[in-house]
Amino acid sequence: MNLNYFYSTRIITGKNCVLNNYSHFRALGRRCLIVTGQSSAKKSGALKDVQSVLNSFNISYDIYDKVSQNPSIATCINGGKIAHAIEADFIIGIGGGSPLDASKAIAVFAANPDLTEEELYSVHWTNKPLPIVTIGTTAGTGSEVTSVSVITNSKGLKKSFKDDSIFPSLGLGDPTYTMSLSDEFTSSTALDALAHCIESYFNRTANDISMTFSIKGVKTLLKGLIALKEEGASNLSFEDRELLYNGSIYGGLAINATGTAFPHSLGYFLTELYGVSHGTACATFLPFFIEHNARQVPELSDSFFQEVGIKKEELIALISSLTPRFSLKLTDSEKKTLSPRWINNKNLIKSWGEIDSDFVYNLLTEMF
Ligand SMILES: [Fe+2]
Repeated sequence: MNLNYFYSTRIITGKNCVLNNYSHFRALGRRCLIVTGQSSAKKSGALKDVQSVLNSFNISYDIYDKVSQNPSIATCINGGKIAHAIEADFIIGIGGGSPLDASKAIAVFAANPDLTEEELYSVHWTNKPLPIVTIGTTAGTGSEVTSVSVITNSKGLKKSFKDDSIFPSLGLGDPTYTMSLSDEFTSSTALDALAHCIESYFNRTANDISMTFSIKGVKTLLKGLIALKEEGASNLSFEDRELLYNGSIYGGLAINATGTAFPHSLGYFLTELYGVSHGTACATFLPFFIEHNARQVPELSDSFFQEVGIKKEELIALISSLTPRFSLKLTDSEKKTLSPRWINNKNLIKSWGEIDSDFVYNLLTEMF
């Protein structure tokens, strides 16, 4: 198997990692824009730590806290204008996947203020994006360590762009920031991380490096997920939270090389049209993906379960028990209307087997 992997982010995790690694901020410039959602950066304590580091170096900053779930392109264009106007040298994203992905798009728009939406997604950028620092407050997205950003376009569709120039310069993750997350949010984000690892492993573009990250990620996440199921989120120890956080980083490192597969591609419509959270949307398709791979690539499937040390049925039962429930019934015409959504979808067709519109239609019929 050929190997293929590029990486350019300094990753540091652990308790107090923001305060303990202050010196890395100094090299990035004198002024920055902090990009966050409305509450998690404050509630988690991450914003306070970042402000303390910036103040100690006299790095001035503005805060853009307008990023909501599944950030829109308009939010990112606006953030880019602000960063450009204040002459920011770098961008700091604090939060879960939404603020972190937005911080990458804002770094692009800040350096290219006249960029169009189409140019953003097609990576036609004249100027290099501003340097990015990502500080995670959930254990799921892995965006802290990837060169990918998913932004909702002006048609309301979640769409990704990827380029080596948006690898964060610095990715920091203190699992303490995740301690106050609710049961539902802890489950859905952890399942997102698990989906990243599994979709990357069962991916036509996987190689030994990405698969090593996938296996390590699943093994790490499983310990945290079992604790989550048995104890509930409010009783998780720092060590359990750390397992979930580190597992999410391995997931990010895995999809960095491969992208995702059909649970992510199909899950997007549940978020766009029905407001299902991203992790829950992907996890809803994950048991089908696991069974699908057991049929399509049985040897690969056997070796996966041998390596991660759990039986297929046990993994599916664990995922199902942690996936928040929602009910949805799709009519025949709704399924047909949805189908064009996935034509030429690059991650969908990275799944093993023949993945065409019939496959999608049949899967939606079986599920909804
Ligand atoms: Fe995801």
